[in-house]
Amino acid sequence: MVRFQDVEVCYIDQKPILSNINFEIKPNSFHFLAGKSGAGKSSLLKMMYLALAPTKGRVDLFGRDIKGLKRFEVSNMRKRIGIVFQDFRLIENISIRENVALPLRIFGAQEKVIRRHVPELLDWVGLGDHLETFPAALSGGEQQRVAIARAVIARPSLLLADEPTGNVDDKLAERLMYLFEELHRAGTNVVVATHNENLINDFNYPVLHIVDGSLISKL
Ligand SMILES: Nc1ncnc2c1ncn2[C@@H]1O[C@H](COP(=O)(O)OP(=O)(O)OP(=O)(O)O)[C@@H](O)[C@H]1O
Ligand SMILES: [Mg+2]
Repeated sequence: MVRFQDVEVCYIDQKPILSNINFEIKPNSFHFLAGKSGAGKSSLLKMMYLALAPTKGRVDLFGRDIKGLKRFEVSNMRKRIGIVFQDFRLIENISIRENVALPLRIFGAQEKVIRRHVPELLDWVGLGDHLETFPAALSGGEQQRVAIARAVIARPSLLLADEPTGNVDDKLAERLMYLFEELHRAGTNVVVATHNENLINDFNYPVLHIVDGSLISKL
């Protein structure tokens, strides 16, 4: 599913922020990606959604080396990936109903499927009464839940969630984790980046831990 071999990452003119990164995410797995602020969690996820190339080493995604992929191959791969961005990245000038519907529209889903499925999921994340609201009128935690609904609605093969519970209380964080677990049971690979130790302790999944630019795997 995902394989990193001797990967090094450095942003322009800087020393590497990650080096000697080796790990594999096997199909049907659930991982936490841990490490303190600035450790490189978001950077590692960026490589998994093809927004950042490694400076050295090799990254394979869905069995393919990401180096040299053609543009249409990148866009086909991205269609299989659901992403919850740390900063949400909702589209500001459309309603949350339309934000969440986007991945289904990209897949050409039928209108009646969209009309049923989007409110169902928004209801599940506690926003069923806000269908026509625009993102700017929502709190941070509410926007985060919209971002999660949008990332999962098309049942991606790989779900990458960057601090998906950073803006919600413990009870809601647990509920959102149950949603990820449900997807995992249905066949989605899940990677949750977090610095929330409680979340990691409460759910028993392997942890990829970034410490001082290197990865320590804890099963
Ligand atoms: N576009 C960029 N250009 C230059 N440096 C960057 C860029 N993005 C991230 N960095 C640097 O890379 C390091 C890792 O950042 P990253 O965002 O991956 O960390 P993180 O583990 O996700 O942190 P947080 O928990 O705060 O989200 C940081 O030192 C950051 O300043
Ligand atoms: Mg981050």
